[in-house]
Amino acid sequence: MKNFEREIKVREDTKRGLLAVFEYGENCPFEVKRTYCIIDVPEGVERGFHAHKHLEQICVCLKGSCEFDLDDGKQKVTLRLDSPRKGIYLPNAIWHVMKNFSKDCVLLVLASDHYDENDYIRDYDEFLNFIKDASK
Ligand code: TYD
Repeated sequence: MKNFEREIKVREDTKRGLLAVFEYGENCPFEVKRTYCIIDVPEGVERGFHAHKHLEQICVCLKGSCEFDLDDGKQKVTLRLDSPRKGIYLPNAIWHVMKNFSKDCVLLVLASDHYDENDYIRDYDEFLNFIKDASK
């Protein structure tokens, strides 16, 4: 399975705090066209349950923590985000579920394209068919 974990470049000093950098060609493999945040997720709520046909994303927990279940149609892995130093690179065609959000979780997502509902695959069987067709 692919390695989804990415180290985020940070500049930190004890007197002034932490600055996290996302730079195209450095630690971000695509030009960012959209950013969004997920915050205030109530305890026990799970989000996601979809894959994208083309979209690539980078997810970073700026505050608090959460977990990602990632599934490429063959293998599954669960990754925990609990530091702005750590990110997840989410390529297209990965079924993902976000869960175990801490109360203070601020999840930042950088996306390679504009919002397009037609790029979503929200049905798991459809996702498996998409993977199968893509490997032909
Ligand atoms: P969705 O991606 O389904 O959220 P999650 O996977 O976290 O459950 O998006 C939730 C709603 O927000 C959905 O109606 C689409 C809308 N939305 C936008 O309008 N723009 C965006 O950039 C995103 C990510 C979602």
